[in-house]
Amino acid sequence: MNKILSKNLVQIARILSDLEYHDGDAIGKYLGITRSAVWKSIKKLQVYGVEIISTKNKGYKLKEPLLLIDIEEIKKEVANSNIEIEVFENIDSTNDYLKKKLKFNKRQIAIAEMQNSGRGRMGRAWHSPFGKNIYFSYAYAFKKDISELNGLSLVVGIACLNAIKEIGIEEDIKLKWPNDGILGGSKLMGNLVELQSENYGYTIAIIGVGINVNMLEASEEITQTWTSLKKVTGKYIERTKLCIALIHNLNLMLEQFAKYGLQEFIVKWQELDSLYNKVIELNNGECKGVAKGINQQGNLILELDSGQQKTFSAGEVSISKR
Ligand code: BTN
Repeated sequence: MNKILSKNLVQIARILSDLEYHDGDAIGKYLGITRSAVWKSIKKLQVYGVEIISTKNKGYKLKEPLLLIDIEEIKKEVANSNIEIEVFENIDSTNDYLKKKLKFNKRQIAIAEMQNSGRGRMGRAWHSPFGKNIYFSYAYAFKKDISELNGLSLVVGIACLNAIKEIGIEEDIKLKWPNDGILGGSKLMGNLVELQSENYGYTIAIIGVGINVNMLEASEEITQTWTSLKKVTGKYIERTKLCIALIHNLNLMLEQFAKYGLQEFIVKWQELDSLYNKVIELNNGECKGVAKGINQQGNLILELDSGQQKTFSAGEVSISKR
């Protein structure tokens, strides 16, 4: 089910975000909609899992602020007519959605407030509760062969981290090869890059980004130890601003990557590499060694006990307990 985020929902959530009671009639008058349209939106938010107190003679009150993603604000800031942007209140997966409607003369961005079947790497599910985090996908065409896009997920990680810093988060976030953002030893974000070869030498990358923003608890079990920006900073974060910063940084860095390749990003990666000089295991102990950064292709370099260096283009890394 793909449902575009309704303007009423955005406006009602904004009004209630002062955490005071608001009467349904007054909200309706203010927005120029009927009281029953207000009620329907409130019910919908409750079905999505938002806690709203409803008290006779007083009206509705939110327990926590809920600033939904504002597409108008994003469009104002990202004034690029070659990018099509859509925001959904509910979708299966933003990556799957873009995969079905690829156009290679236009860049496309899909953002959602909630995913019913959010996907992570290695066939894992990506927990995607309503209104809490960022679920974002960007379909970006490169005039390159698929084999020239090695290391793209590393560039995406750098762009995400820059965007988070740009909105004023000063915590020490690091990257974990190949696609994770780590804060205080726990997973803050991940990206899922899926590549599709097209005609005329084009490859379209569907770049999916998941960032845990205001989530404080998870209603389903998450197998990896996770954190969120709010968990660490204690501050409620406006996701619209983060989306805008993310689009700006991705535009900049993807263009740079298209022109000059991974070379431009190697030094930056080294600064942010959380694994460097750590003893790590690859794919549940299949290989063990000391992480020595990445090579020109973005492959992980591992120094084995024998002193020999081995590189890996894919895999799942964990810090060894040894
Ligand atoms: C990972 O770390 O395993 C990658 C997580 C990627 C999650 C994002 S959320 C937006 C996009 N849509 C999906 O279904 N997955 C990606």
